[in-house]
Amino acid sequence: QFADDPKRSERFSLEAAGLFLDYSKNRITDETIRLLLDLARARKVAERRDAMFAGEKINVSEGRAVLHVALRAERGERYLADGKDVVPDVHAVLDQMAAFSDQVRSGAWKGHSGKRIRNIINVGIGGSYLGPEMAFRALRTFADPSLTVRFVANVDGADFAKATQGLDPHETLFIIASKTFTTLETMTNAAAARKWVLDAIRAEQGIARHFVALSTNAEAVRAFGIDAANMFGFWDWVGGRYSMDSAIGLSTMIAVGPDNFRALLAGFHAMDQHFRTAPLERNMPALMGLLTVWYNNFFGAQTLGVMPYAADLARFPAYLQQLQMESNGKHVDLAGKPLDVQTGPVIWGEPGTDGQHSFYQLIHQGTKLIPCDLIGFCRPLSPLADQHDLLMANLIAQAEALAFGKTAEELAAEGSHPAQTPFRVCEGNRPTNVILAEQLTPHALGGLVALYEHSVFTQGAIWGIDSFDQWGVELGKALAKRIIPELAHGAEPALAHDSSTNALIRRYRSLRGMA
Ligand code: F6P
Repeated sequence: QFADDPKRSERFSLEAAGLFLDYSKNRITDETIRLLLDLARARKVAERRDAMFAGEKINVSEGRAVLHVALRAERGERYLADGKDVVPDVHAVLDQMAAFSDQVRSGAWKGHSGKRIRNIINVGIGGSYLGPEMAFRALRTFADPSLTVRFVANVDGADFAKATQGLDPHETLFIIASKTFTTLETMTNAAAARKWVLDAIRAEQGIARHFVALSTNAEAVRAFGIDAANMFGFWDWVGGRYSMDSAIGLSTMIAVGPDNFRALLAGFHAMDQHFRTAPLERNMPALMGLLTVWYNNFFGAQTLGVMPYAADLARFPAYLQQLQMESNGKHVDLAGKPLDVQTGPVIWGEPGTDGQHSFYQLIHQGTKLIPCDLIGFCRPLSPLADQHDLLMANLIAQAEALAFGKTAEELAAEGSHPAQTPFRVCEGNRPTNVILAEQLTPHALGGLVALYEHSVFTQGAIWGIDSFDQWGVELGKALAKRIIPELAHGAEPALAHDSSTNALIRRYRSLRGMA
């Protein structure tokens, strides 16, 4: 394809919101794109997008609007949920967050004993954790170095122990982040945090100086003992995995400051505007979504690799796992009918170049087709001799190697030992998207996250699924609730599970020294 068409890279690349996408190294022709666009039209992707922006209740199984795009709307724009413009409320919370962040950053907000807050611990899981942690790491160089920012998500006590290790409770602020304020892991860790602080400050009334909440559930926040004045709200039209730019981003804002947080929102907004207005054939998230559908449904590819060539984006694949897999891991359509097509692929990845010395072998020469997104930034934030050139040379080289491979003839011409040649042949034709931005700034990060959000949306629209519910995670939660008392000390309870589950419970009890 490249040999026949010197303009291929020009034709199959585009820019939007400060991001450049080269999708020329995919298994596509003009006809492929034409047919994928026909598919998008037949599945009414643009109409569904417009319905989302219009605040229609496109989360049908929960009867909710899906309006995360309103979280980054500029003052004066209008987004309606149930006929009410939500943008003034969004900005009221952003202003409240900014005022609070300024107080913490300046030292004006003090702990109960009058000490300055130096440590921020976000307690939350899923969408109330992955985005903030990813963003904090990604924007490390923009963060106030005098603040320690940590995260507790896992109900394993080890996570809490590690997050609080070496910290002074008198100087620590906990942010309890939970949309529902009922999530078992978060509520359990929040209670541990409360005890950890109270053991040090020994004054109930001091809790208000050490705890704030991010939630949609004001009642539960009050019941936990957090003052309503210390609550930052959001709304049921914000899905957990779409909430890092809502109040859930408070830890990010405290770390990088309100101006940088606004730049992050501006990056989201720029990509939103592009997704909303660009024709599908020049629409970056729509094209990325269609390419994911292409490999998922027409080549049987099971996974999509996302490899950021940026150590600071180390948690981006984990963030995308929830965004993509919780959104599009669905088995019925919008009418509740079983689907006869494959839905969301498995998302995985690690930063390049680390992955090159680990699992890239399988991508180059294995028997599975693994499309990959390679993400890079042209100007380093931590320049070190010529190391950034080395990093980016590797990104560009991997895309080239995966696409063009190496033939037996080329190897022979290079003097490869004939016995080794079959092992060294790389077939090539392995697809990649290359996404480049100038620098990993807050604006670029916002654009990148919104790019994937809208790509996920496009995929969901093609499959005709509800990308905004997550009923599948409920069963495990319910079963865990039933098992919790069965693991408690005391005589063995009557166990009525299957033989495997019963045996696992008994083994656990026995190794914990219970009857
Ligand atoms: O169990 C899945 C989930 O509901 C996610 O969708 C959500 O992001 C996470 O749990 C945390 O929920 P919450 O913010 O309500 O604690």
